[in-house]
Amino acid sequence: MATVKRKPIIAGNWKMFKNHLEAIALVQKINYLVRPEDHDNAEVVVCPPFTALRAVQTLIEAEDSRLLLGGQNCHWEKEGAFTGEVAAPMLARLKCSYVIAGHSERRQYFHETDADVARKATAIFAAGMKPIVCVGETLEQRDAGDTESVIIGQVKGSLDGLSTEQVNQLVVAYEPVWAIGTGRTAQSSDANQVCGLIRGVLSDLGADAASIRIQYGGSVKPGNAKELMAEEHIDGALVGGASLEADDFALIVRYRD
Ligand code: PGA
Repeated sequence: MATVKRKPIIAGNWKMFKNHLEAIALVQKINYLVRPEDHDNAEVVVCPPFTALRAVQTLIEAEDSRLLLGGQNCHWEKEGAFTGEVAAPMLARLKCSYVIAGHSERRQYFHETDADVARKATAIFAAGMKPIVCVGETLEQRDAGDTESVIIGQVKGSLDGLSTEQVNQLVVAYEPVWAIGTGRTAQSSDANQVCGLIRGVLSDLGADAASIRIQYGGSVKPGNAKELMAEEHIDGALVGGASLEADDFALIVRYRD
């Protein structure tokens, strides 16, 4: 497994921050700071709010940038009477390459279940994009010693119904809920252990687990990115707070420096 080369993927999850004008300014700075060799080393994705996607897409195209675009969520139907929702084909039309599915904030505040996440992942593939499927335990679950069973259940449930070929293409983000936005990062060895567990589940599902990218997310900053990324099973980062500062995000992308 250690010999397989997986291209890391570093994605900025902007959450509900930045209007479209602020988004343009941020992407211009990121674009300036991320060098060609950084793009060779890692896929770099920005996931702005829906209202900024079109502006950022236009900028990426105008500047011939290698930045990739991602959505933060989508509905599982390809269209319909679902007021306030956004369909996967709409994101594909905006040249999104990735869509985050099942972020813990969606699970916690909008009651998304593993079954919902699986339906979304299916819709994302059907529209020609790839899901970044998020899993992670809460502090209560960790303290109760349930991390393994929770993660195994979430991975299996969130990927239910996907073909092996699809599972081989997706990205999993391990984000311990207690580390998100708290400034508290998982120890890199602990994060690696859970990412290794996830890789084992992917293998049990019959996928080519050694080639699937698994990101860590939860208070990733310029100061801890290198150590996290050095771990065997960690193939990138899903970055929240630090992705809103161009300098910090670029330093995370340039973690090898
Ligand atoms: P954080 O968020 O980097 O601000 O902890 C990570 C995430 O929620 O994806």
